[in-house]
Parts: sequence; C-alpha cells; structure tokens
Amino acid sequence: MRTLEVHGSTGKSSILVGEKLSEFPIPMEKAVIITDTIVNGHYGKDFPPFEVIEIPTGERIKNLTTVTEIYERLLELEVDRSFFIIGIGGGVVCDIAGFVASTYLRGLKSVMVPSTLLSQVDAGVGGKNGVNLGGYKNIVGVFRQPDWVLCDISLLKTLPQRQVHSGYAEIVKHAAIGDADLFSFLEEHHRKALHLDSQVMENLIYHSLVIKASIVNRDEKENGERRILNFGHTFGHAIEKTTAFSHGEAVSVGMVIASRLSEQIGYLEAKDSRRIETLLKRLRLPIRLQAKKEEIFDAIRKDKKRNGDRIKFVLLKAIGRPFVEEIPIGKLENAVGDII
Ligand SMILES: NC(=O)c1ccc[n+]([C@@H]2O[C@H](COP(=O)([O-])OP(=O)(O)OC[C@H]3O[C@@H](n4cnc5c(N)ncnc54)[C@H](O)[C@@H]3O)[C@@H](O)[C@H]2O)c1
Ligand SMILES: [Zn+2]
Repeated sequence: MRTLEVHGSTGKSSILVGEKLSEFPIPMEKAVIITDTIVNGHYGKDFPPFEVIEIPTGERIKNLTTVTEIYERLLELEVDRSFFIIGIGGGVVCDIAGFVASTYLRGLKSVMVPSTLLSQVDAGVGGKNGVNLGGYKNIVGVFRQPDWVLCDISLLKTLPQRQVHSGYAEIVKHAAIGDADLFSFLEEHHRKALHLDSQVMENLIYHSLVIKASIVNRDEKENGERRILNFGHTFGHAIEKTTAFSHGEAVSVGMVIASRLSEQIGYLEAKDSRRIETLLKRLRLPIRLQAKKEEIFDAIRKDKKRNGDRIKFVLLKAIGRPFVEEIPIGKLENAVGDII
C-alpha cells in the first residue's frame, strides 16, 4: 500500500493506493454509503454495515434531482454532522457523493472509494465536485477535499475492458504533462498494465496521483497551473459531446491533436509526438476518429474556456513539460489534419 496527501483550503485529504483497502481502519462510527446499482451488485455484500443509498448509473443522473433525492434520504435518516458520507463508485458517484458531502449541513466528512480506473486516477481525487445542469457538464459545483480516498486496485477486476482502456487515457495524460519516467514505465509495461497486474497498477495509479496531487496542492481552484490537467481535453470534450466516444477515448484523440499541434508550432520533437501516439495505440485507445470536423469545431467554438476566436490550449515542449498558450481557433484546423 502507498499513501499520499492533498492539502486543500478545506483540509487534508489522505489517499491510499493498494489492494483490499476495505480492511483499512478509518476512525468513523456513523456513515451513509452512496453507490450505484452496478457497484452495489458487485460489492454491496462487502460494504461496511452502514445505511446504503443506491442511485442509478450513467452521466444523465449526475444532476440536482438526484442530489435532492439524496438530501431527502439523509433527512429521513437523521444524518447530523457526526456522520461521514462514503461514496463508492465511478466518477459519477464520486462527483455526486462529493457534492452532497460538501453541501449537506454545509459539509460533512467524507470518504471516496473510486471504483473505476478513471475515477481512481482522476475524478475521485482533487476535491472538484460538480453536477450537470441544462446540458452543461459540471456547471454547478464546489471545491472540497474528501478526508480519505481509498484507491483499491482489486475493485478494477470487474470493470469492462473499455472502461479500463479509458482510464489509461488519464494516466497517459498525467505522464505526458508531469513525469517522463512514468511515461517510460508505461511504455515498458503496457502489456502487464492491460492485464491489470497488481504491482504495475499500484505503481501507475500512485505516480499518476502524485502528479495530480502536486498540481492540486499548488493550485487547488484552477486559477493557473491546474489548467495543464486539461491536456487533450479541448478536443476531448468536443469529441465526447459530438460522437459515441467515451471520455477517455475522446481525450486520447485530443492528446494526439495537442501533440501534433505542439510539434507543428515547433516545440515538441516529432519522435516524442510519435511516442505518445504509439503508447495510446498500445493501450487500445483510438488515435484517429471518423467524424464530421465541422461538428467538432462547432463544439470547440462553444467551449467555456474560449476567449473570442482564441482558445487556451495545453501544449508540450517535451514529455513531462507542458505549458499553456492561447491559440487562434483557425490554427487548429491544420493540426487536426487527417486525425479526424
Ligand atoms: N471531479 C473531477 O475532478 C472529475 C474528473 C474526471 C472525471 N469526472 C467525472 O467522472 C465521470 C466519469 O467517471 P467514470 O468513467 O468512472 O464513469 P461512471 O461513474 O459512469 O462509471 C462507469 C460505469 O462503470 C460502472 N462501474 C463502476 N465501478 C465498477 C467496477 N468496479 N466494476 C464494474 N463496473 C463498475 C458504473 O456503474 C458505470 O456504469 C464523469 O461524470 C466526469 O465528469 C470528474
Ligand atoms: Zn478527463
């Protein structure tokens, strides 16, 4: 087991990465568990003996209606400030449970148990808790660090393959923006990673989280540096919105475009851009996309982070050396080339 910490304005978050973490003793007497139907089906029998609030699955239920239903249940259960909220599930459950824990009674203590690879390396950690409203993703939310985050590798065994691959997109992202050694480790061990080898996974998740945690420690509320976590996400979000690609798949293509753009502007060496593409491909992620370019550019023009006809874009000088530059949207066409 490995541990690390995030120090946010609302307190410290202790993160554990390992196997069978359900046996780890967290000092709590009263708690309510929030989970979804699928995770409850797989693991409900192993949950600690607390009341369980089960929600449906899917991005569509990540909204204020679900949050209100949970508040009402907490009222019925007479939950007071001595209770912990435990969120067990993927990014959707972590976002909802984190939002509820941050707002009910102006904030309860919380434990997140992210159960997808994506949520273990990303959504479950960092204290950003948001829900969707009126077609906008994560538009209502708060920053608040959970007290504990347990990244239990044994939960990943029941994940569908496509979900595992999607999670790798965020690990590649963390390596590309923050750790050239992690990138090389992933290149060397991609086969074991695809088979969820315990030691390789513990190493990958831990080092990926070290990068995210250190960025969050320096810029919790995304005033500056935290933006580099959006590497691959400008196109990623637009692709996710307009195609059937999952978040990770969309970000994978987004990272290929961002690398290509970095190369075209003369920052990233061609061989490093190729390494990124090759690694994504080896991790069974898409590096090309069949879609209408125009629809994707329309979505980019609606991006919240746009500034007139320019957009803040995360680029690379080398693997592990990111920076942010404002790019005219017109200049992106060239980078996309034959990728879409
Ligand atoms: N707050 C943040 O910083 C942040 C960061 C990244 C992503 N997110 C959010 O995370 C969400 C995506 O998260 P996700 O990819 O984990 O999706 P998800 O939560 O929808 O989970 C995907 C599916 O896997 C199932 N599942 C979960 N754990 C499982 C397990 N161990 N075995 C079998 N099935 C399991 C779920 O029931 C669900 O059907 C999005 O809403 C995104 O906005 C938030
Ligand atoms: Zn992402």
